[in-house]
Amino acid sequence: MIHRKSGQLAAVSSLAAFKGFPGESAYCASKAAVNTFLEGMRIRLKGTGVVVTTICPGFVKTPMTDINNFHMPFLVSADSAAQKIMKALENRKSVACFPWQVSALVGLLRLCPDRLIQWLFADYNSSPPCQSG
Ligand SMILES: NC(=O)c1ccc[n+]([C@@H]2O[C@H](COP(=O)([O-])OP(=O)(O)OC[C@H]3O[C@@H](n4cnc5c(N)ncnc54)[C@H](OP(=O)(O)O)[C@@H]3O)[C@@H](O)[C@H]2O)c1
Repeated sequence: MIHRKSGQLAAVSSLAAFKGFPGESAYCASKAAVNTFLEGMRIRLKGTGVVVTTICPGFVKTPMTDINNFHMPFLVSADSAAQKIMKALENRKSVACFPWQVSALVGLLRLCPDRLIQWLFADYNSSPPCQSG
């Protein structure tokens, strides 16, 4: 790609990359690593013609989320997510976060004190869908 001066790298991260959610800490940390890795690549490749796109979805209806037994705000269909991802790739965006409502919500949660997050996620923590976080 560098040799031919064109190309695009993209990876699916998550809005979970922006906050260490209780019960999801391993997932959040792995997505934060994806974002940081791609950020470094983006800066490294600036001016080469190769763009790097980080995709950060909120909740998407897939087998991964079908096991969730909690309310997933602004859940979008896989088709809708695919359209947003295609648009981001076509526009050669650096970071694509969607839907905007969850993106804004995560931005707000980042400002909240730990005690408030603990309270908000109390039910979720008592029975997470999987025990890996
Ligand atoms: N769904 C969401 O709400 C959501 C939100 C944010 C980010 N994401 C991210 O989006 C990506 C896709 O998630 P999804 O919701 O589409 O999950 P999914 O429906 O569970 O699909 C996961 C896909 O990954 C493949 N896979 C799993 N382990 C693999 C392995 N070791 N090697 C190769 N392929 C493997 C599976 O292949 P098989 O079908 O062959 O098992 C499947 O096609 C993930 O990175 C997820 O973290 C999802």
